[in-house]
Amino acid sequence: MRETIPLSVPSLTGNEWNYLKDCLDTGWVSSVGSYVDRFEQSVSEYVGTQFGVATVNGTAALHLSLLACGVQRGDEVLAPSFTFIAPINAIHYCGAEPVFIGSDPATFNLDPEKVRQFLTEECTREADVVLNRRTGRRVSAILPVHIFGHPVDMDPLNAIAAEFQLPVIEDASESLGSDYRERKTGGLAKVGCFSFNGNKIITCGGGGMVTTSDEALASHIRHLSTQANRRPFEYEHDEVGFNYRLTNIQAALGVAQLEQLDGFLEVKRRNACLYRELLAEIPQVELAWEEPWARSNFWLCALLVPPADRGPLMEYLLERQVQVRPAWKLMHTLSMYQHCQTYQLEETEAAYARCISIPSSVQLSEADIRYVVECIKAYFESS
Ligand SMILES: Cc1ncc(COP(=O)(O)O)c(C=O)c1O
Repeated sequence: MRETIPLSVPSLTGNEWNYLKDCLDTGWVSSVGSYVDRFEQSVSEYVGTQFGVATVNGTAALHLSLLACGVQRGDEVLAPSFTFIAPINAIHYCGAEPVFIGSDPATFNLDPEKVRQFLTEECTREADVVLNRRTGRRVSAILPVHIFGHPVDMDPLNAIAAEFQLPVIEDASESLGSDYRERKTGGLAKVGCFSFNGNKIITCGGGGMVTTSDEALASHIRHLSTQANRRPFEYEHDEVGFNYRLTNIQAALGVAQLEQLDGFLEVKRRNACLYRELLAEIPQVELAWEEPWARSNFWLCALLVPPADRGPLMEYLLERQVQVRPAWKLMHTLSMYQHCQTYQLEETEAAYARCISIPSSVQLSEADIRYVVECIKAYFESS
């Protein structure tokens, strides 16, 4: 039987062993160590921000960023429904509620125009506060997510956020290496958040990072991530903090992985181009592609199919050892978030119904890609 072609698995062929061994040999295994410093410095330099604060995972990076940007209990945060759940849970951890704003049909990402309409038509401004007229709650931040690695159209989003004096927290967990108008995602707003989970373009096993050029914000986030211990020798904690620091072992993996990022990006682009070329022969499907102003890292390739074929095609591919997944269930349909306000989600629902994630790992061979496309072709020929 054919081996399963995985959806997205790590490639660990660089200095990972050497750097891990170094941690074990020197005893620097916990949350302080030179690899943590190196990883923070290299990721922030890569992204184009002045500071990086490593965290235990991407969800923690989001949680701390929201808190440090002033999101409080009872507030609302504008966010997409088409996303992995972590950013929405992070909003909830702050005691705030998401308001789900619809997608840009071209990218599936948060649509800046819908955000503008929501803020101008559904909200009022009193002094420095933006209030949602329907709920009476304060809107205190905007949280775009660069889904599948494709950048959100950030310039218009930042413009509307500036007009309403709202901080933007970029969830760049999936988009390390992606460019928006020749600037890296994660460096396009007040604060950026990354995940280095095992399925991401580079991994620490588990890990995350906050990137920002705001020194006060970086230092507050670092403080919160280490139990808010103002004077470590005296255990003087001055607010409720978290144990959210990345360990040196995880950072050692991250440093080794980051050294290979350019190569990973090249391979992922080549694979996406081959998928696209081969899929062009199947009229029923297309590969979600880049906007002219974007350069995606193609973290996860998304196949767009007729909604009626989505379930049967996934089953057909899984039976043939091709690991595929639907997009994440839309956030506003989950029991915890069903009560939250939604705004113009028609295109979001349409996108979800058409989307299948197909194998996208760096190790994917040309033969694997040809096999996946042959299976898709065979499905449509037989149906
Ligand atoms: C968009 C997005 N945000 C946040 C996260 C959370 O990251 P982590 O799993 O490292 O907590 C992930 C992935 O895991 C993600 O895909």
